[in-house]
Amino acid sequence: MDIDYIVLGALLHDIGRSVDCGTLHGWEGFKLLAQTPFRRYASPCVTHWLKGRSRQQILDEGDMSPELVTEIMSAGNFEELGLEDRIICIADAMARGDEVVTVKDRYIEARKRYGSNPWIETNEKLTLEFKDEIDILLIRDLYSLFPKLSG
Ligand SMILES: [Fe+2]
Repeated sequence: MDIDYIVLGALLHDIGRSVDCGTLHGWEGFKLLAQTPFRRYASPCVTHWLKGRSRQQILDEGDMSPELVTEIMSAGNFEELGLEDRIICIADAMARGDEVVTVKDRYIEARKRYGSNPWIETNEKLTLEFKDEIDILLIRDLYSLFPKLSG
């Protein structure tokens, strides 16, 4: 596992919020990092947002034009996420402010903030699938590593 990629990717995944705080911050972050020596860590900007969705899923659930989806999907392989990108997705979904929370709690808050919609529902489903994979690799529940979550 590429720990440097996970740490730097996790730290930089929301850097696009410096350009756009909306739904396209992942794409803005990718484009921003792609022009820097940190381009190696650009993918998590997109993968924490799209979570491995196919082009068709993005068109069905998102509100992006087909042209933009084509542009994004031609910039990298964002459909087959490596373990590192999945871990960043989970870490992102377990952070609420400066506290660690369960993925379910994080998405309860997301629904309060953005309302319920197909995109958020799929985000939670995909993130919980990533967590299931990590639980199997860990041979324990990921939450058991966090005393506050397992108590
Ligand atoms: Fe984000």
